[in-house]
Amino acid sequence: MSQAPARRTVLQGAALVGAAGLGAVACSPSGKTASPVPTEPVALGAASDVPVGGAKLYREQRLLVSQPTKGQYKCFGAACTHQGCVLDKIDKREGGHCPCHGSRFDVTTGAVLQGPATQPLPEVPVKVEGGKLIAG
Ligand code: FES
Repeated sequence: MSQAPARRTVLQGAALVGAAGLGAVACSPSGKTASPVPTEPVALGAASDVPVGGAKLYREQRLLVSQPTKGQYKCFGAACTHQGCVLDKIDKREGGHCPCHGSRFDVTTGAVLQGPATQPLPEVPVKVEGGKLIAG
């Protein structure tokens, strides 16, 4: 008798893990459940990799960096605010694209250009040190 509630709890937990697992597969090949923004500084490599007037996606770090004007960098979490999939490409005209349900985001402001996402991408501090980008 006393084991029935425990079993139900285990089954509910398994269902939650299953749902989270699906999200992890879709969102992070590493299977890590990462925060939408870094909790410590993240080195992203050469600042010159980010084109002026364009942006670069760092899928592994779940970040994107844009350079709207020369020397001005903007960084955002690249996990879609709809259900957490990591953006898969950046198009100059169409912005950052989410492969799961088609949301698009402005890479210079993080704003939603097309739903179903309704919340902007979270901005992350970014700086250049010795020609390298450091986010977080
Ligand atoms: S998770 Fe990005 S549009 Fe749904």
